Amino acid sequence: MKTYKIAVIPGDGTGPEVVNEGIKVLQSAAEKYKVKYEFVKFDFGGERYLRTKETLPDSAIEELKQFDAIYLGAIGHPEVKPGILEVGILLKLRFAFDQYINLRPVKLFRAEDCPLKDKTPQDIDFVVIRENTGGVYTGIGGVQQKNTEYEIATQLMIYSYQQVERCIRYAYEYTRKRNKKKLLTLVHKTNVLTYCGDLWYRVFQKVGEEYPDIKQDYNHVDACCMWLVKSPEYYDVIVTENMFGDIITDLSAMIQGGLGIAAGANINPKGISMFEPMGGSAPKYTGKNVINPLAAIYAASMMADFLGEKNIATAIEQAIQKALLSGKIKSLAAGKMGLTTSEVGDLVASLV
Ligand code: IPM
Ligand code: MN
Repeated sequence: MKTYKIAVIPGDGTGPEVVNEGIKVLQSAAEKYKVKYEFVKFDFGGERYLRTKETLPDSAIEELKQFDAIYLGAIGHPEVKPGILEVGILLKLRFAFDQYINLRPVKLFRAEDCPLKDKTPQDIDFVVIRENTGGVYTGIGGVQQKNTEYEIATQLMIYSYQQVERCIRYAYEYTRKRNKKKLLTLVHKTNVLTYCGDLWYRVFQKVGEEYPDIKQDYNHVDACCMWLVKSPEYYDVIVTENMFGDIITDLSAMIQGGLGIAAGANINPKGISMFEPMGGSAPKYTGKNVINPLAAIYAASMMADFLGEKNIATAIEQAIQKALLSGKIKSLAAGKMGLTTSEVGDLVASLV
């Protein structure tokens, strides 16, 4: 029997609760489709940091290399200064495994979950491909004369041709494989970022010559924010740099029904990828069994897809859809679902 080894980092806050439901659903699918998932848990996160001052030791990176994929709950702790866990765990993992693609499917399952007037599931079904290791996230910059009126701070947007090329190529391939509108939209800010934006634009056109079947379009990022609200039905696949992608994927999460349903994948096409719900650790809801696990379950479906188990991926996605259309889940918001976290997990698991 095909066996997949999954490293699980439940993380902080509600992370462990949602990850448990994802595992439950994967196990249920595994029985049906005759594969095996082996889960090994790692305790990286805020609690461990507060205890040991350690975020993610290099030895952990070595250990994680033995797994087929990483399944992550949430990172973030109210008692830890912002940046420490994000940079020390989440970004460190993205860099260490060269997960240069952040894949974010944006799909509305029920019209009632969308805050936009008159938009239906037909209107909201696109994918954002966010470059995931470059740009300002490279972390190069510094500060001089801190805390004086002469203070200067820099944080550089850095991109190499190679980084841009591999991301854009991935996006063209993805758009072709997705085989829907076959429309790839580059999002940037070429009117101001005349160096970085120009690099992206040129590479977009050059690589595009190899994909004559894919229509190309370009949006400035500010305009894209308008269109995502006004005409989300226009989009098929969006490709963009790291920071712009961070922002438009949160906007996109809201139009698909919120963080309760938004999932993402940090992908190295030839390496170890990591799958996570987009929401944070939600300290307010921790331990109450009220957080929505659907985003984590959706991330589990993406993980199955990446590992080549297309049937399992589709079965889980359809089970999410069936669960939502059953009317048993009142809302996607934490505490308002009308079911507990584990009941939502049970429902989806019963439908795969
Ligand atoms: C995300 C998050 C991270 C990011 C943070 C937590 C570092 O917002 O995955 O979108 O900015 O990439
Ligand atoms: Mn973000």
